[in-house]
Amino acid sequence: MSRPDYTLHRPFFLTGIAVTLTAGATWGAILLLRIAQSHSFTEPSIFAVNAHGQAQIYGWVGLFVLGFAYQMFPRFQGIPLPWPRLAFLSLGLMTGGIVARSFGEAPRIAPLALAGVAAQLAAVLPFAAVMVRTLRAPGRTRGAHEPYILAAVAWFVISTAFDLFHLARLLAAPDAKAVFAQVATFQLPLRDFQIHGLAMMMIFGVSLWYLPKLVGSAPPSERRARALWLPLQLALTAEAGLFITFMRTRQMPWVFAMWGADVLFAACAAALVLGLHLFRPVRFPDRSLKFLRGAQVWLLLSLAMRVAAPFWAALLGKGFSHAWYGATRHAVTVGFISLTIVGMASRLMPMLAGLDPRKLTALRAPFLLLNLGCAMRVLFQVATDLTPRAFPLAGISGVLEVTGLTIWGFHLAAVMLGRVRQPVAAPEELVTV
Ligand code: HEM
Repeated sequence: MSRPDYTLHRPFFLTGIAVTLTAGATWGAILLLRIAQSHSFTEPSIFAVNAHGQAQIYGWVGLFVLGFAYQMFPRFQGIPLPWPRLAFLSLGLMTGGIVARSFGEAPRIAPLALAGVAAQLAAVLPFAAVMVRTLRAPGRTRGAHEPYILAAVAWFVISTAFDLFHLARLLAAPDAKAVFAQVATFQLPLRDFQIHGLAMMMIFGVSLWYLPKLVGSAPPSERRARALWLPLQLALTAEAGLFITFMRTRQMPWVFAMWGADVLFAACAAALVLGLHLFRPVRFPDRSLKFLRGAQVWLLLSLAMRVAAPFWAALLGKGFSHAWYGATRHAVTVGFISLTIVGMASRLMPMLAGLDPRKLTALRAPFLLLNLGCAMRVLFQVATDLTPRAFPLAGISGVLEVTGLTIWGFHLAAVMLGRVRQPVAAPEELVTV
């Protein structure tokens, strides 16, 4: 019998690490230092900021989602990967798209940037086809994880198409006023589709499916997960739709309705994540557990901050606080999403390489640096609303986060490239599915 392929995810993960250590987190840290030096969040142009945003969303989150899903989902289903060539097609298109946007977006080379986002959309479509075929394979059991993963795939397609529309309008904007109007109306919904839709739904689906097997946590309630799915999708759609309606009409009732949608989303996401029982004792604790638990704390904090956003703005006598919004977004992207990626990969990658993660480094330095960096970012970015003295402390946070990601990234690359040796069992015995 031929041995299953345990290497498919590697080019996706290695490229993801390379992207975040260059155009993603590292470029973000440089932007943050510029912001700290100038005491202004608008010092870097929106195109420079969005070049970082796209690298993190498609390169860091997207490539890890693609690699994990192509490698693990068919395996969980007990079927071969459908249309395996499409996996490599989407890797090539996604990488090309990220590179094109990284070079094309900030200097506003419109054809290059637009070709980049078109390539990203072209990468997501075959991925969606393979995922639908994998998850809907005949004769497979249908768990509560399935609608979450299908929703994540749908949000991936929707958000990338929306990104194409948004970027085309931004690049075509004749002046700074038109750029501002486009960003003010459409950028927040785009981020909601990407972060609450693609990333969060995928993490929820994978956690429901795989976390009890991976770390030995108590199984989540299928009934609760199924009951929360529709309110989450409706709240997310409403968050985005009501925000655009408010920006178009400027009538206050839409703001209250939008806040209601934020509260509903936060309550459902919190109920779901608390139902994963990760804070109870688990059967297979290892170095990944602290990342996964930390991620959940950051998620709860970011949800609370999102709900509290209008109160903070009201306290300051403003309509909107850029600092609070940026801090909230990085509590979820660095705190929740990135710690989850780091935690899951730190456990799974050694197992797929035939190594026992319990016998490897505990990754304490990346854990401390990422959490300290994230805490400083959230705290001091918010504090910039009160005093300009908080800017340098917010600025340093990016350097700490990038250092943590670099240490972890080099370790994980060494594991994947076979540079870490350990005489233990074959992958078949280590991968618990
Ligand atoms: C690891 C360290 C990171 C640093 C130093 C960093 C830095 C920054 C900075 C300086 C900005 C512009 C200022 C602001 O709006 O607050 C920004 C925006 C952004 N970041 Fe990050 N970031 C990091 C990680 C991430 C991650 C992990 C993600 C996604 C998974 C992400 C996604 C975004 C997005 C989408 C924006 C654009 C926000 C918008 O719509 O205005 N960042 N980041």
